[in-house]
Formats: sequence, C-alpha cells, structure tokens
Amino acid sequence: MKVLAVSGSLRESSYNTSLLRAAVEAAPDGIELEVWEGLGELPLYDEDLEDDVPESVHRLRESWAAADAILFSTPEYNGSVPGGLKNAIDWASRMKDQPFAGKPAAVQSAAGGLLGGARAQYQLRQSLISVDVLWFGRPEVIVSFAPQKFDATTLELKDQTAIDMIKAQLAAYEKYIRLVKAM
Ligand SMILES: Cc1cc2nc3c(=O)[nH]c(=O)nc-3n(C[C@H](O)[C@H](O)[C@H](O)COP(=O)(O)O)c2cc1C
Repeated sequence: MKVLAVSGSLRESSYNTSLLRAAVEAAPDGIELEVWEGLGELPLYDEDLEDDVPESVHRLRESWAAADAILFSTPEYNGSVPGGLKNAIDWASRMKDQPFAGKPAAVQSAAGGLLGGARAQYQLRQSLISVDVLWFGRPEVIVSFAPQKFDATTLELKDQTAIDMIKAQLAAYEKYIRLVKAM
C-alpha cells in the first residue's frame, strides 16, 4: 500500500522530515512510504486563484489522491500546525475532487519542547476530521526535546524508544488501512 509521507516543515535540517525518513526505514513490508516534497511550491491559498488553479496545486491533489493513506509529521508552531501545512490542506480541500474523504491519515511530530508537538497533532486532527479523513488514533508518535533525539550531523533518529514507537505505529496503521480498504 502506498502511504504518502507529508512533512509540515520546509527547513532543510527538519527533525520532522528526518522522522519521516526514519519511518521509511521502519515501515513494515506492506507499506511503501514515499516522502512528498511539494509543500514549498504552493502559493498562499487565495480563492481568486481557484479560477485558474496553479500547477503546484494540481500536483498536490494528484499525489495526495493517488495515495492509499497519508502519514503527516508536523512541527508545532506556537501551539499549532505550521501555516505552510495548513495552507496545503486548505488548497487540497478546495479541489473539485478533494483527496481526503474516506482516506486514512496518521500523524507524528517532533518538537523542541516538552510536549513534542502534541498540541499541533490535535489541531491537525481537528482540521482533517472536518474534511472526512479517517483518523488513526494510536499508538502515537511524539518526539519531545527533538535536538537530543537526532544525530547533530546526519540528522538520523538515534533514540531507540522513538524508533520503537514508529514501528508500533506503522504496524497498527497498516492493519487500519487494510480494514478501511476492505470496507
Ligand atoms: C515559529 C515557531 C514557533 C514554535 N513554537 C513551538 C511550540 O509551540 N512548541 C514547541 O515545542 N516548539 C516550538 N517551536 C520550536 C520547534 O519545535 C523547532 O523549531 C522544531 O525543530 C521545528 O520542527 P522542524 O525541525 O521539523 O523544522 C517553534 C519554532 C518556530 C520557528
């Protein structure tokens, strides 16, 4: 099954993008994870642009629609989802054939603070439920104090507890996606 991995960070040395790279390594055989890289190409959402939708938005919709499921990894900005990720969701939700309805979505987060992006995860859930995503609940992947958990040079995730959490989440997520597809 194809799962699209969407990082909410544009930063080259992003912990969240690294978390998704760790997920690619940890994914069970039944899941093929592909990291999506179109976030920075999107213009700010503007209803006036809907008359002549930009190519980057078409590409967004096509790649999100082609996936069996989505795995987000979101930073937390001021207790919420980064504007760039919310912008992508807003664009996708406005396409004629929006790519969310009935699609499983799961989330991970890495953040510098104690809560590890948990508040951003719940805000993301709130948005996606309103576009009829089928939200995957647990196990959760929350990486707090992120700078201590990734190699400072290679950015590789080096925290075994976090790696085990990712494995547990993806094993359960695979079962969840199969259940949804069988419905
Ligand atoms: C605008 C801004 C707001 C932030 N707000 C929070 C926050 O509310 N909670 C938190 O734990 N970290 C916060 N941080 C720190 C981020 O967790 C940290 O920069 C993290 O590395 C961002 O994820 P990334 O590495 O994937 O880019 C904030 C960072 C920025 C730039």
